[in-house]
Amino acid sequence: MQIMLAPMEGVVDAPMRDFLTQIGGYDRCVTEFIRVVDNTYPDHVFSRFCPELATGGRTAAGVPVHIQLLGSNPEAMASNARQAAKLGALGIDINFGCPSKTVNQRDGGSAVLREPARMTRILCAVRDAVPADTPVSAKIRLGYEHADDFSAIIAAIKRSGIDELCVHARTKKHGYKPPAYWTRVAEARQQLGIPVIVNGEIWTPAQARQARSESTCQDIMLGRGAVAYPDLARHIRAEDAGESYMPMAWPVIADKVYQQALTLHQTMPRYAGMRTKQWLRYLSQRYPEAQATFERVKRHKTFEDMRGSWCEYSA
Ligand SMILES: Cc1cc2nc3c(=O)[nH]c(=O)nc-3n(C[C@H](O)[C@H](O)[C@H](O)COP(=O)(O)O)c2cc1C
Repeated sequence: MQIMLAPMEGVVDAPMRDFLTQIGGYDRCVTEFIRVVDNTYPDHVFSRFCPELATGGRTAAGVPVHIQLLGSNPEAMASNARQAAKLGALGIDINFGCPSKTVNQRDGGSAVLREPARMTRILCAVRDAVPADTPVSAKIRLGYEHADDFSAIIAAIKRSGIDELCVHARTKKHGYKPPAYWTRVAEARQQLGIPVIVNGEIWTPAQARQARSESTCQDIMLGRGAVAYPDLARHIRAEDAGESYMPMAWPVIADKVYQQALTLHQTMPRYAGMRTKQWLRYLSQRYPEAQATFERVKRHKTFEDMRGSWCEYSA
């Protein structure tokens, strides 16, 4: 079983990838999407999304990071993929799952699922543009309006010759609302001779087991569950190996989150406060103490201001 950390724009950035891969259990990460229109980005843009390019395309814990591109112009997608590979990206992932209105209105993300032939053109162009040993993957949903188009989407993937597919087991219309339809992913497994990764609504080891069983996929991708439960991947692995696992207790997590926020504050002071509050909201889904901490710090804008209330609570 491989466990991937999902791309999450505005949430899973390089510091979060570093944090979660240090805790462990992940085999691979994907960057937030880089939106491609018709130009080829200069190198610094790729480095901004993927600072890990400076360290061989891996996080400090040694986990490979693939670069994700989003767009619908095959030539521009190909030239950006080529550039990313030249800069050392260890893989290229194409986003056909984003439900955002702004992105979809400009024909990107999940909007492309409505045009399987276009998906194939984009994927073929990207596959041709990068060296054969640079894996190209796609991240899709079951469809745009409904899942009836899933077979045509899978056929488009098959024609493209890409190396791997990740399926977020919902349509664009489903958004992020539970449930995820893991059983539907089994069709992709049956039709494609490439690894298929199941994604969506995996928050616990039991859900990981069920998602793998229903989808018949070996591999999984964790998004919000990973942010809410930093040692979820380790817990899933332990269960899979039949070992008992003692999840990290809140004081351990809280200390790590605090240290991470402090580092963010030192490197990106304007952004640390907002990001830390956002993270506490995710963590609140698992740890009631995170909710209490959030309530204490929510009125503060910067992490500097938050520190007093945070420490007061922890003491
Ligand atoms: C805030 C947020 C940002 C996301 N950004 C991206 C993105 O940049 N690229 C992408 O392919 N998917 C993105 N996704 C989708 C996730 O990768 C994942 O497919 C989805 O959250 C379902 O998995 P989960 O139920 O484990 O969270 C995003 C999801 C969320 C909630």
